[in-house]
Amino acid sequence: MTRLPRIAVIITIATIVLAGLVVAFVPLSQGLIERWSKRDLELRSSLVFRSIRDRVEQEMTGRPADLAPLFERFTNDERILALGLCDSRGRLVVATGQMPQVITCAAVGDNGTEAGRAVRFATFNNSGNRVIVGGYPVGTGGSRGRLLIVHELRFVADRVLEARWYLIAGALALILLAGTLAALTVILLQRRLMKSVLATINDLRDGQPKVLDKPILPPPPVTTEIRSLLRDFREKIRLEDGSPIEWSPKTLHDLLDNELPDTEVFVVSNREPYIHNHADGRIVVQRPASGLVSALEPVMRACGGTWVAHGSGTADRDTVDAEDHVQVPPGSPAYRLRRVWMTDEEQEGYYYGLANEGLWPLCHIAYVRPIFRESDWQQYVAINQRFADAVVREATRPDPVIMVQDYHFALLPRMIREQLPKATILTFWHIPWPNAEAFGICPWKEEIIEGLLGSTVLGFHTRSHCNNFFDTVDRYMESRIDREQASVTLGGHETMVRPYPISIEWPPAAMEGQASVPDCRATVIAHYGLPDDIRIGIGIERFDYTKGILDRLHAMDDLLTRYPEWLGKLVFIQVVAPTRTKLASYATLQDDAIRLTEEINQRHGSETYKPILLVIRHHEPDEVYQLFRAADVCVVSSLHDGMNLVAKEFVASRDDEGGVLVLSRFAGASSELGEALIINPYDIHGMSDAMHRALSMPEAERRERMHLMRTHVRERNVYRWAGQILLDASRLRKRQKVADFEAGSSL
Ligand code: F6P
Repeated sequence: MTRLPRIAVIITIATIVLAGLVVAFVPLSQGLIERWSKRDLELRSSLVFRSIRDRVEQEMTGRPADLAPLFERFTNDERILALGLCDSRGRLVVATGQMPQVITCAAVGDNGTEAGRAVRFATFNNSGNRVIVGGYPVGTGGSRGRLLIVHELRFVADRVLEARWYLIAGALALILLAGTLAALTVILLQRRLMKSVLATINDLRDGQPKVLDKPILPPPPVTTEIRSLLRDFREKIRLEDGSPIEWSPKTLHDLLDNELPDTEVFVVSNREPYIHNHADGRIVVQRPASGLVSALEPVMRACGGTWVAHGSGTADRDTVDAEDHVQVPPGSPAYRLRRVWMTDEEQEGYYYGLANEGLWPLCHIAYVRPIFRESDWQQYVAINQRFADAVVREATRPDPVIMVQDYHFALLPRMIREQLPKATILTFWHIPWPNAEAFGICPWKEEIIEGLLGSTVLGFHTRSHCNNFFDTVDRYMESRIDREQASVTLGGHETMVRPYPISIEWPPAAMEGQASVPDCRATVIAHYGLPDDIRIGIGIERFDYTKGILDRLHAMDDLLTRYPEWLGKLVFIQVVAPTRTKLASYATLQDDAIRLTEEINQRHGSETYKPILLVIRHHEPDEVYQLFRAADVCVVSSLHDGMNLVAKEFVASRDDEGGVLVLSRFAGASSELGEALIINPYDIHGMSDAMHRALSMPEAERRERMHLMRTHVRERNVYRWAGQILLDASRLRKRQKVADFEAGSSL
């Protein structure tokens, strides 16, 4: 319960208790009032007695009957019913007319004893009304008697009744007062609460708490609770993000239905999501090791549409129809894969040459020299044109949504725009964009920028990549840059340039059917023949020089040297998927890694212990997740990386909230996964210290870090990534429609 309702409840309970006490006092008060009223009467009675005593004693020896008028006068007092005089023989010799029959001298008291000298009060029932009689001794010697003064007690009952009403009215007034007080307190606190909520929302929106200039009141006591509540619901209150609460295939599907109804959706990428290969006389399907594919595939499963990609498998031609289509995923088709073919020579120039020897090292600062060959460029242009033509041929409408992926297709957006001017082209650059200086060495920089600016939206992983792009355009192109609107206009066409940090599906399909973490660990230990109590480090990626694999191996060497307590107790399983092996830079890396692993294993290992297991083969997603789940620590040490989805996949695999992520600050993921142990992969000591820290981390800290990262990845999953791009696309399409109306044409 927050403090506000607590205070209201306390006030309400206090009020009820107080009112209860007042009501409980009512019966008690009756006795008190009766006693007090009786005393009051006795006092009045003795006053009357004293005022007439002398006259009575004077007359009683002579003519007592003469006292009658005097007695009658006293009965005018509303509290005095009657007066009478008893003589020494106990006879009532004088009495006023109202004297009740039940009152006799004998009943009031004895006159003959010493005790009879005392005043006596007696109560009688006079026809249903209670009366009290004071018997006062008068006279001396033989003329002794008793003066009787009779009072009615009815007024006592009246007084009790009156007092009861006063008490009840008082209790009601008290309740009313307390209620008003409680209401005022609640209203006041609520105002402060609202101020606090608004201030906290603003703080959270701005990313950090603000210091108010001279606060009039001390900080509201509820701020901490509200802050933590709001933090939990941060995603829900960030309306300007346009983010529904939980992004899922359904929300993405609904978004398409509502925002982009009847829209044809295309994805274009070099790598295909399903590769058919001949193996041992049969056809097998392979899921490629590609961040792009793991991100886009679930999106296409949710949206449907057509994915246009290079058919690179040995059995790909055998599995398509006459239009080069194949329905995927195999077994549960959700979308159509359209394969585009190319010769080895074309692949050599476009893919290995320009894309992977030119643009890849150009955009990744990993100190590998980019190579630019004119022939490669020609192939790159030709293949881009082939893919553009394929998309145009597949499109059945003039305004499809086309999601162009990556550095393989920098020219595609403009090529498609020339043929389908009303298409919504959403291009995503999956690798970093370098600074203007670095990009400037590319001989075809203008063509590449011009090609990309055919897009409707151009996305990068981070804001700094966007800024690098703006700087590059500014330096090399005649265009209009609007940094406020985050757009570039070239040749009359405006392109939005925005950061969209990519992610993975949640929950990942590869988690389906996974054994428990202890079982995964047992399986991996058995598979590699390791001791039961071994600690496991893991690294999984394509065999690429940008991933910092050699640096990681050096860090392992350093760890075992500086922290020998891990000797024999830790194994690092480095899984690498062969990639671009035709290229010298990749072949060299592979050789270097094998040689370095052997050296380290010789230095620190034995007949039975190998600290590093280098496993060079493609692993399917479920095997990758099994390894992640078996690991104590996962190291991602990229020298430069757009995002790095391995980091997010490791987090997604740990539903036990175990395992520690060691993550390079040069991977885009580090700006999202701040709870990882962030390292500089060029600092070998720093990396090995982090690995030691990860292995020694207390369980509570490990869990807390993993919990926070899992929450982040779950909320910012790939459906949200695609959803945000599509939401922007829909906004721009609507704006375009309005512009078309204004121009007198309609779609
Ligand atoms: O990082 C960009 C990216 O396209 C990733 O999707 C993928 O991991 C890699 O580069 C491409 O690899 P390949 O050349 O094997 O398709």
